[in-house]
Amino acid sequence: MDIPWQLQVLFQMLLSWTLVANGHLEFPFLSLSTGHTSSPHNEPSDAGKFVILPKVVGGYSITIAQVPFQVSVRRRSMHERTYGLGLICGGALISQRVVCSAAHCFAVNNSYNPVRFYGPKLFVVVAGSTQIDQADRNTKEYLVQQIIGHSDYNATTLENDIALIFLNGYVSWSSKTVRAIPLATKAQREGTTCLINGWGKVTVVGKSGSLQQAPVPILNPSLCRAIYLLPMSQLCAGFMQGGIDACQGDSGGPLICDGQLAGIISWGVGCADPGFPGVYTNVSYFVDWIRSMNATLDYSKYLVMDSADGRRLATSPQRTWWLALAFLLIALSGG
Ligand code: ARG
Repeated sequence: MDIPWQLQVLFQMLLSWTLVANGHLEFPFLSLSTGHTSSPHNEPSDAGKFVILPKVVGGYSITIAQVPFQVSVRRRSMHERTYGLGLICGGALISQRVVCSAAHCFAVNNSYNPVRFYGPKLFVVVAGSTQIDQADRNTKEYLVQQIIGHSDYNATTLENDIALIFLNGYVSWSSKTVRAIPLATKAQREGTTCLINGWGKVTVVGKSGSLQQAPVPILNPSLCRAIYLLPMSQLCAGFMQGGIDACQGDSGGPLICDGQLAGIISWGVGCADPGFPGVYTNVSYFVDWIRSMNATLDYSKYLVMDSADGRRLATSPQRTWWLALAFLLIALSGG
């Protein structure tokens, strides 16, 4: 971009001002206008004045063979009921058993000090698939043995928004639609054009969710700091004029620069809105964390999980008690 970043900040400030004044501005965790909370999680909460588009915004369709490390993380209970439902987040395979994704995809809401993460049995990871709701012979499904969310994940600032998903089995390299992506160990240069992928949100049964991709340039760190007060562990990428961005449901997915995993889709204000680029976890900042966490994983173990686990977990113990009570009352009333 030829405009100096100071000017861009000015433009951005004027713009956000106008947006706030007109009641348009929406943050992922505090809504300034619409009175609802638009969480960075994937609950259906995005009903602001900006229409949040259902997929990577401004992108194009690709096939999984072009990005064989891309996976989707799904809620197992929904996934087992209807294939294609339950999308939570994206992720990227970084080894034969480890997927890198975002911590906010797995954090128990409002858990602070220490932050708690959901158990591994609730999730399933799908690799080698272009369509969210269609499996073919290259599609591989994995249960999860362990989820390691960053212990300093901050649900307010979304700092340290990184998690490792330890698969309950090895992915096989025999399929050419499943591969790992190497980690970027150095910070990206400003202006580097990187790629993002994702399926975005799929809410309607049978609706096709085809994998999307979009190019996003790495923005000047001072510009990112000025817009979002970003620390070094986060970076921002995208277009100041808007139009192309990641969106809800893409979180956890990779930001790919020069064929390496440089970022993790984390958050943004709205999607593809002018003045608000996407925010990503800076992977090069977390390489040591990734390596040390990987070293704690026990590669000799597999969890024994039967396929009914997901459904059983979907039935809450409370509901079981209420049912028992209802039966008892019916029995007592001589029915
Ligand atoms: N937090 C969103 C999710 O959970 C992804 C947000 C990315 N947003 C953006 N404007 N770049 O899927």
